[in-house]
Amino acid sequence: MRVLLIGKGGREHAIAWKISQSKLLTKLYLWPGNPGMKTLGELFPVSPSADFASLIAAAKQNHIDMVVSGPEAPLSEGLADAFAAAGIPTFGPVQAVAQLESSKAFAKAIMTKAKIPTAAFKVVHSEDECRAEALAMLSASGGVVLKASGLAAGKGVFVCRNADEVTAGIERLYHSDMKAAATDVVIEEVLHGRECSYFCFLGKAGPLSLGFAVDYKRLNDGDQGPNTGGMGCYAPVPWLPEGAAARVQAEVIEPLLKALKNEGLTYQGCLYVGLMWSPTKGPQVVEFNVRLGDPEAQVLALHDDRDWLGWMAASCGLTGGVQRPEGQSDRQRQLTGKPAAVVVVMAAASYPYGNDAGTVATLPESLFASNPDASVVTFAANVATKTDGVITTSTGRVLTVGARGANFVEARALAYAQVEQLAKIWAGSRWRGDIALAVET
Ligand code: AMP
Ligand code: GLY
Repeated sequence: MRVLLIGKGGREHAIAWKISQSKLLTKLYLWPGNPGMKTLGELFPVSPSADFASLIAAAKQNHIDMVVSGPEAPLSEGLADAFAAAGIPTFGPVQAVAQLESSKAFAKAIMTKAKIPTAAFKVVHSEDECRAEALAMLSASGGVVLKASGLAAGKGVFVCRNADEVTAGIERLYHSDMKAAATDVVIEEVLHGRECSYFCFLGKAGPLSLGFAVDYKRLNDGDQGPNTGGMGCYAPVPWLPEGAAARVQAEVIEPLLKALKNEGLTYQGCLYVGLMWSPTKGPQVVEFNVRLGDPEAQVLALHDDRDWLGWMAASCGLTGGVQRPEGQSDRQRQLTGKPAAVVVVMAAASYPYGNDAGTVATLPESLFASNPDASVVTFAANVATKTDGVITTSTGRVLTVGARGANFVEARALAYAQVEQLAKIWAGSRWRGDIALAVET
C-alpha cells in the first residue's frame, strides 16, 4: 500500500512509526511531516500550504491508496469528503461526522438522541443567556462548565466553582480570540470521577479497541499550573474496573454508531472518547474527538503491538491483499513482556504561554531512528533541520519520550533516564516529573 499521512506533530510521528512497521506498506508519504519523522517515510513534495485540490492531484500522481489524517482540522474542513470524491479513501471521518469534535453542540445533541451517559447540558446563543443559565446551574449544583462549541485549540473550556469564575469564563468566551468558536456555548453540569480516554478504530471492519490511556493536562507536577495539550500519558489504565472497555463499547460506541446511522452517517477513522469514570455510574462522556490524542497516540503506539495499517486499511474497506489482521489479545500482549507504556513530553520553557523557543538545542538525527522492538523511543514534534543530520529544538511541545516495560515502575525509569540524558543537551526544556507515578491504584 502507498499511504499519505497528514500532520506534523508527535502524534503523527507515532502513527508513522506504527505504519512503517506494517508488512502491508510499500511507500509512506508524510505531509507536511517533520524532520524527526524523515527516517520513516518520504516528505510529500507538496507545499505545506497547498489546498485539497493540489494535494489530491499529487496523491493521484503518486498512486496513493489511502490517506490517514492525524489532526482534526483538515477533517472538519472536509478532507475525507474531498479525497472520497476523487476515489481515494481516508482513515478519518467525513466533515459531517467530524462535527463530533468541531461542534460540541452537535456532539451533545447526538449523545442525547443515543442516550449516551454524559453531563446534563444546555446550548446558549448569547452572552446574556449564557450568564443567566450558568448562574442558575451554579446555584443549583455548586458548579458549572462553560464550553465554546467550536474548535478552540483546547482553550475553550471553563470549569467554574463560583460566580467570579463564571464571569471570567464568559469574558474569555465572548471577548477574546475564541469569539468565533463561541457563537454557541454549551453549559453543562460538573461530572465527578477520574478522567481517562478510550480509543477505537471504526469503519467497515467494525470496532477495534485500542483501549484506555490517561493524559496529564496541567503543566506542572501535582496537576498544578495552566492547561496544556498534554504533558505525558500512561497506558493501560490499571485502576479501571474489569470489563471497562466492554462497557464503553455497549454504552457509548454502539449507541453512537446507531445514532449516526439514523442520520445517514457512518464513522470511518479513529474515535477518541474523553471520559469521566464515576465510581457509581461508570463511564460518562466528556467529549468526542475524531483523531488520536497527542501524546495519547505515542503511548498507544508503544503499548499496542498490533498492525495499525492493517486495521486502518480494513476500516477503509480496502481489499486486494489487504486483510483484517488478527488482533492480538491482551493476554498475548502480556506475553511480549512489556505491557506498560509511559510517555513524557519535553517542551520549550515558554510553553504554553508563547512562541519563544528559548535555549535551542541541537539533536542528532539518529535520536529518532528507532527500531520496532525498541523499549525507548523519542518522537519529534516541533523540531527543525539545521544541516543534514542535525536537528534543532523549536517552540511549544518539542519531543515525546516514551518507554515500555514489564510494569509502570520499569517503563517510567526508562523514559525518565532518556529525558534526563536529553536535558543535559537541551537546557531550555521543561517536563513533568510525575507522569505515571503511583498509578496502580
Ligand atoms: P473538553 O475539551 O470538553 O475535553 O474539556 C477539557 C477538560 O475540562 C476535560 O479534560 C475535563 O478535565 C474538564 N471538563 C470538561 N467537561 C467537564 C465536566 N462536565 N465536568 C468536569 N470536568 C469537565
Ligand atoms: N492530549 C489531549 C488531546 O490530544 O486532545
